[in-house]
Amino acid sequence: MKIKSTELISFRNIESEAIEFSDGVNVIYGDNAQGKTNILEGIYIFARGRSFRASKDKELIKFGSQSAYSLLKFENSSGPVTLGVEISQSKPKAFYRNNVRVSRTSEIIGEFRAVLFCPSHLGIISDSPSVRRSFLDVAISQLKPNYIRLLAKYNNYIMNRNAVLKREESEESNIKQLLDVYSEELSSLSAEISIIRDEYIRRLDYWVKEFFKDMTDGKEIPTVTYDANHSLKDSRSKEEIREKYLSLYCSSREREIKYGSTLYGIHKDDLKIDINGRDSRLYASQGQQRSLALAMKMAEGEISREYTGEYPVFLLDDVLSELDERRKQYILSSIDNKQVIITTCEPSVFDSYNENMIRIKEGRRI
Ligand SMILES: Nc1ncnc2c1ncn2[C@@H]1O[C@H](COP(=O)(O)OP(=O)(O)O)[C@@H](O)[C@H]1O
Ligand SMILES: [Mg+2]
Repeated sequence: MKIKSTELISFRNIESEAIEFSDGVNVIYGDNAQGKTNILEGIYIFARGRSFRASKDKELIKFGSQSAYSLLKFENSSGPVTLGVEISQSKPKAFYRNNVRVSRTSEIIGEFRAVLFCPSHLGIISDSPSVRRSFLDVAISQLKPNYIRLLAKYNNYIMNRNAVLKREESEESNIKQLLDVYSEELSSLSAEISIIRDEYIRRLDYWVKEFFKDMTDGKEIPTVTYDANHSLKDSRSKEEIREKYLSLYCSSREREIKYGSTLYGIHKDDLKIDINGRDSRLYASQGQQRSLALAMKMAEGEISREYTGEYPVFLLDDVLSELDERRKQYILSSIDNKQVIITTCEPSVFDSYNENMIRIKEGRRI
């Protein structure tokens, strides 16, 4: 997967810029708050269907403008593709593939694949479970389009079920029936999603071990396992997982009503990441946690290649300055044969390389 060019119009602080990229390493550099990350945001929107940092799409529209546009030209194994998006103050967001409007965002997810690495991702080991779930969801969505639909359905049922669990007792008559229906649906969806997550986590475990070994002296062995309400250690089948959730919902109904919330399901999943059998959240040093985070990002790229036959594009947002010399060198040497777009305030790191250097000032290329 190689990006050819991006074009941004009224996107954040960028009035109108077209930037071409080379197949290897591209460095976007400039002072702080000039628009470097905005460019990555304009690219990554096609990997995820939305911004990686704005909670509302409208934040992407340049102050005082009506609409923002981003256009991405890239090549994947099936040939050249152009994806576009229009974000307007007055209309819903619209995606285009080769100038033809697509009806749902999920139709374009998976077409452009990228691994994004931001400084905040370095905290993935110590962050809350939701951050690790989001890592899984974003990574898997790019590989399995159906996964997004399953998640959306699941979240919808959770919302409805929680609303029922919060109802006043006076409305109790049909509560039981409704809960039964939602419990059935959630158990089936949890089973389906669990199987997909489990498959992904097994590959993650394999690749994190590989990269971590490379980065350290090999004495410490990490393990990444699936931490869920059901245990997949013994390779449960979809049906077994479904039954497990059904029985959990059945036995905990009183408690769920008391808390007004669904206590079991894949929205509680986590990744368990150990080093030599000890919980890395509690016992790993900050350096080890960073190496694990790095290994997980590199692993994300390898798994994407395994599933699709080609490497995704790597977008590194200002992470090099956060890493010590050894880890910096490691990452620079391992991205050698991939397309990478790096943002940085310190272009001198790249003096000895032969990269495509892109300087950004006040939202413009200079
Ligand atoms: N919707 C917007 N319209 C205009 N400018 C914006 C908008 N959103 C953010 N900005 C500006 O973009 C700049 C930050 O860009 P960013 O890409 O994060 O900088 P950096 O070069 O440090 O990565 C800030 O100056 C901010 O004010
Ligand atoms: Mg930035």
